Amino acid sequence: MIDKNVFKKLSYGLYIITSSNEKEKAGCVVNTVTQITSNNPILAISINKDNYTNKIIKESKKLIINILSEKVKKDVITTFGFYSSKDIDKFANVDYELFEGIPALNEGINGYIVGEVISITSVFTHDIFLVKVISTKVINNDDSLTYKYYQENMKGTSPKKAPTYIEEEIKSAKPIYRCTICGHIYDDSKESIPFASLPDDWKCPVCGVGKDNFERIN
Ligand SMILES: Cc1cc2nc3c(=O)[nH]c(=O)nc-3n(C[C@H](O)[C@H](O)[C@H](O)COP(=O)(O)O)c2cc1C
Repeated sequence: MIDKNVFKKLSYGLYIITSSNEKEKAGCVVNTVTQITSNNPILAISINKDNYTNKIIKESKKLIINILSEKVKKDVITTFGFYSSKDIDKFANVDYELFEGIPALNEGINGYIVGEVISITSVFTHDIFLVKVISTKVINNDDSLTYKYYQENMKGTSPKKAPTYIEEEIKSAKPIYRCTICGHIYDDSKESIPFASLPDDWKCPVCGVGKDNFERIN
């Protein structure tokens, strides 16, 4: 018998992995960064095969691990952890600099690690990227963000593609819906009427399509 609650006993940090090919930038939240060796440092990261960031990393073979601090804005985690770079420009509202063309965040991080992919192992839904460190930068000495802090203090959840996803968590979170036409977000936790209770003739306030065009994203 597997009680998935035991996985909550594992401790993790939280990171935003960024990457870029010649044309596009991508980035996503992960909790799965582990240092494997210290001399010639190698790190491992697990990234879902459906994540757009996975595709961009495979194309460029380079990435940056942005080490989140407890001061990161929750909006940044929501943007990078619940939306896809394929649909929105995740970098539109964050301060970043480019390191060899890859975005490194300037806010909410304690430092970043620039790495080159040396191997990719397919594990069912995810790929494990082994990454050789080529450059690093320490930015702040604030406490680094842990999964525990994110869940308990920031009241954060994890989406389906996170390895730590547990079905019940999603059920207890208030639903968020996105218009599949224009991207408008209807977040039940910020609205007085739950999406499910809106009248059938309700229209998207931005592009005017009906409720049927909305999909739940958390
Ligand atoms: C707290 C948290 C932890 C996550 N951990 C991972 C992870 O380790 N691996 C992964 O593939 N996705 C993880 N995700 C999910 C991705 O960040 C999410 O699917 C993202 O929308 C993918 O964006 P992309 O399509 O732009 O790459 C996590 C999300 C959150 C909020």
